[in-house]
Amino acid sequence: VKNITTTALRKLKAKGEKFVVISLYDAHMAAMAQRCGVEVVLVGDSLGMTVLGYDSTIPVTMEQMIYHVEAVARGNKKSLIIGDLPFMTYATPDDAMRNCMRIMQAGAQMVKLEGGAWLADTVRMLSERGVPVCAHLGLTPQSVNKLGGFRVQGRDEVGAEAILADAKLLADAGADLLVLECVPAALAARITRDIAIPVIGIGAGRDTDAQVLVINDILGLTEQPPKFSKNFLLEANDIPGAMQKYVADVKSGLFPGDDNIFF
Ligand code: KIV
Ligand code: NA
Repeated sequence: VKNITTTALRKLKAKGEKFVVISLYDAHMAAMAQRCGVEVVLVGDSLGMTVLGYDSTIPVTMEQMIYHVEAVARGNKKSLIIGDLPFMTYATPDDAMRNCMRIMQAGAQMVKLEGGAWLADTVRMLSERGVPVCAHLGLTPQSVNKLGGFRVQGRDEVGAEAILADAKLLADAGADLLVLECVPAALAARITRDIAIPVIGIGAGRDTDAQVLVINDILGLTEQPPKFSKNFLLEANDIPGAMQKYVADVKSGLFPGDDNIFF
């Protein structure tokens, strides 16, 4: 068992200490994250866009996820590794159980699933069967076609209450972590206060328990970077320095700054 466990992350939340998450895809970056003391690495299905050249995460397959989880697991023995289940691979509880088995056997210690109330039964089943789950609410990129674009979620009262209700439901169902993507800072702060599990924000303000960024954005590789991201290489001499700066700025609360937040 790794020394970064769900219990360890809950303790950090209780102490009010921020932890750091990076979405990355290869052994080399995974090893660097270990050296920088990154608590959690996510093998995100964002790899469809950052590595494979698709314009959304929808084409990503289980086989591609497994290939990258195996690489990351070879490079990093310390951080908790979360594997994303790609589009439609957890549409039913049976699909979810079979595909969680595959990604956990490839080297993930937790799986991440996008969606709200409809996923609660699946989350409960997985938890009961020994699979830690990271839920993902707000902007859920696998639903980009349904959402009508990559846009901030929960801006109106009804939308905000729905995200809060989903967060509570998924935490009650046994989720161990929650990613909140592109929601107003005040909503993320409220959800972080109201649920016991640690909340990881991306474009969700500075009051979440942790932050996640995609490695390509940290290193300035993205042509049109999202508002919530930051190129840390501009303030560093080299790639390890950029990763260290990201880690230090999350821990100290310097990142995200006002420019990176939706109000
Ligand atoms: O795929 C990914 O990298 C993600 C994070 C941005 C949360 O889901
Ligand atoms: Na993802």
